[in-house]
Amino acid sequence: MTRGGKVASLLVLHGPNLQALGEREPERYGKLSLSLINQRLQAIAQSQDVRLSFYQSNLEGELINALYTAKADGVDFIVVNPAAYGHTSIALRDAFLSVAIPFIEVHLSNIYARETFRHRSYLADIAEGVIIGLGVQSYELAVQAACDKLRTTD
Ligand code: DQA
Repeated sequence: MTRGGKVASLLVLHGPNLQALGEREPERYGKLSLSLINQRLQAIAQSQDVRLSFYQSNLEGELINALYTAKADGVDFIVVNPAAYGHTSIALRDAFLSVAIPFIEVHLSNIYARETFRHRSYLADIAEGVIIGLGVQSYELAVQAACDKLRTTD
């Protein structure tokens, strides 16, 4: 798939503690490792001819820097699981507003069925969409939706 003469590109951004998926509270977050999740997402993107890259960090500033790098690299769309920073980080929100790359927010667990401090998202109202509570399928549906958006919008 091309956009403006170049291959459409999508970034999947994973926030803090997600490198531990598979081992971290598996009853809540599932048994798949982050690299297996990424492999599944890569298969979806490949089938749509979309270039997909991944980035995970436990550091707020590194996630913000990744957004500016994405902007410089011409990334067209982002799927982000901000993890706990979604509930706390005005700086991450400001960075999304600054780079103005459209994005979908995902969470593996249903944050509304958990502690009230998880009910707030600093990203949800500026996201194209939000997919939560479906485990790895939250990511898969988001990547599919992102590919659909890339195909149908300029
Ligand atoms: C999470 C939900 C967050 O509340 C939590 O801090 C995480 C994971 C999820 O994918 O369900 O680290 O983003």
